[in-house]
Amino acid sequence: MTSQIIKVDPFDFIIFGGTGDLSERKLLPALYYRQSDHQFSEPTRIIGASRSRMSDEEFKAFAEKAIREHVKAEDIDEDELRQFINRLSYVTVDAKNGDGFEELKQAIGESQCIRAFYLAVTPALFGEIAHNLQSHGLITPNSRIVVEKPIGRDLQSAKKLNDEIGSVFGEHQIFRIDHYLGKETVQNLLALRFANALYEPLWNSAHIDHVQITVAETVGLEDRVTYYDTAGALRDMVQNHMLQLLCLVAMEPPSSTEANAVRDEKLKVLRSLKRINGAEAPKQTVRGQYKAGASAGGPVNGYVEELGKPSDTETFVAIKAEIENWRWSGVPFYLRTGKRLAARVSEICIEFKHIPHSIFDESAGNVYCNKLIIRLQPDEGVKQFIMMKDPGPGGMRLRQIPLDMTFAQNFKGRAPDAYERLVMDVIRGSQTLFMRRDEVEAAWAWTDPILKAWADNGLEVQGYTAGTWGPSASIALIERDGRTWHESD
Ligand code: BG6
Repeated sequence: MTSQIIKVDPFDFIIFGGTGDLSERKLLPALYYRQSDHQFSEPTRIIGASRSRMSDEEFKAFAEKAIREHVKAEDIDEDELRQFINRLSYVTVDAKNGDGFEELKQAIGESQCIRAFYLAVTPALFGEIAHNLQSHGLITPNSRIVVEKPIGRDLQSAKKLNDEIGSVFGEHQIFRIDHYLGKETVQNLLALRFANALYEPLWNSAHIDHVQITVAETVGLEDRVTYYDTAGALRDMVQNHMLQLLCLVAMEPPSSTEANAVRDEKLKVLRSLKRINGAEAPKQTVRGQYKAGASAGGPVNGYVEELGKPSDTETFVAIKAEIENWRWSGVPFYLRTGKRLAARVSEICIEFKHIPHSIFDESAGNVYCNKLIIRLQPDEGVKQFIMMKDPGPGGMRLRQIPLDMTFAQNFKGRAPDAYERLVMDVIRGSQTLFMRRDEVEAAWAWTDPILKAWADNGLEVQGYTAGTWGPSASIALIERDGRTWHESD
């Protein structure tokens, strides 16, 4: 899937939280892949910055281990790995008390290269790090700051974080990551919609019955106890990833792929989402929490057992969302996401309307609605379900057949991880795949009333057995409207 590689200008990449989980699993492997594709120019440097006391050599050993563990063995080129490791150094920095920023300044030196500060740390430290960078004179016109979600836990806290970062960096320097936007198939949504004349005329309420967006995971709490139990599925997945997917499906054609052209259109969608308030929440939303069950062929604990204490945090959400604008009036967007579900699958299902009149008699069988399935992961691809005649002399028998465009069969090569694309976009200064401040806040402005309605109505989580598709109320949510969840194969 790789196309021609264009080198980026030399840069200094400073990872706060350099010895943490994100750095180990995603950032260092992603940067290694970019090195091995010869995308870096000289002199590019990567500086780890964390509280742990570590020497350069120890950080290099940490990075090498991370790469050997998280990059496929066949993708490791020993020469490239050596060159990559040579780019690394380490500074002990304590963001809380400001220790280590002078040392960081010395490590960076007089370099006027692009400077990317990647904050792979808790959001509680974003403001302090930004201010320390400023007070130590580390921010050049060529600097960018990259922040990871969660950007707040509601509108108010998101505004506070945005204010803190925004008082030091200009919006054009702030890169808010939503890693879903870096996924190949998510970007492909732009290509599918706007590089084909076929779909756009049908992409509206006259032809589309409804849209489903499913992001199902089989994993449980993993080792994120502290964060996840205070967040829950609505904050963790819906406020960001799922709303971003919804925006890309629903937005008007932007005038170009330029960052603000795309983000302006997404923002309009977020602002058109109908608020779900107290009275609607029990009908339009479902909260679930997994109980003991089975996953990957073995027994697994329920959420509260994994957590070790009682909890009302939702690990599953289903929502019937509505967009109040001309294009989508009357077209529900059903969203569902959860942990410990029956399969790991993320997909968007666009279900078109019924044919207006059938010329076939009953013996032909059902005429199903056309469906377009955009599979984000795994088995990335696009399937268009159409009705065909079953071949043979048995008369007119209709059958639903997928036109199947699986990426693996059509594109050669490795599908790069989202972070590879996103970190290079940071260096290029391209913000198209990053969230603008007003987008993040508009997303919270829609999720906040749901959180409030849940609290006000005492809407408790409904249990579901691990390894299933969530609580039965989620099936009822869509079936009440005479529709069913698309069954992924
Ligand atoms: C993260 C969430 O943003 O996305 C996790 O915090 C979730 O809870 C993850 O597991 C899913 O990402 P992916 O790329 O594995 O679908």
